[in-house]
Amino acid sequence: MSKQSKIYLEKFISRKTISGRIKKLAKKINEDYKGKKPIFIGILNGSFIFLSDLIREIKVDCEIDFLKLSSYGDEKISSGKVTMLKDLNCEIENRDIIIVEDIVDSGLSVNFIKAIIEEKKPSSLRFASLLFKKEMSKLDFKIDYIGFKIDNKFVVGYGLDYAQQYRNLNAIYVLHSKN
Ligand code: PRP
Repeated sequence: MSKQSKIYLEKFISRKTISGRIKKLAKKINEDYKGKKPIFIGILNGSFIFLSDLIREIKVDCEIDFLKLSSYGDEKISSGKVTMLKDLNCEIENRDIIIVEDIVDSGLSVNFIKAIIEEKKPSSLRFASLLFKKEMSKLDFKIDYIGFKIDNKFVVGYGLDYAQQYRNLNAIYVLHSKN
């Protein structure tokens, strides 16, 4: 995007719709993990709002930790390389793990996460993502809990950024740019 381009945001998914969907995802997770004590691992930064809303709907005993990765830097297109900026603080061997992402776009990040988590021998590993780009994601495994499957739009808000901005917006917007 050139420095001259004008940015405007178009409301895409409302706060109310997001809340309703998160309650449904949490209900399913509560059923699936009955009697278990999963560890939710939020992938920073983007997942922090989704994770905080999701976790408050979780009724089973659980723990939380974070991994910090970066693949986009300040760009709109993935650099194609995932870097780990913060590792886990907990032991995950023989534990039930739920990875929490804001968006699965190219699938690069979740592929990377799957490989590093599986090395640590958890007893189970599942993925939750608020958004899933149906045209882009090239995965040979499924994302178990998906909030919304979306077309290939650049979205911001509710944790998702463009050049670190817009994470604070309480709904999801499509970011457009005009020259
Ligand atoms: C974003 C997002 C996901 C990842 C998805 O992270 O939060 O982790 O990209 O894209 P992919 O499926 O193409 O890998 P980003 O690297 O932008 O860092 P951020 O979470 O701090 O915004």
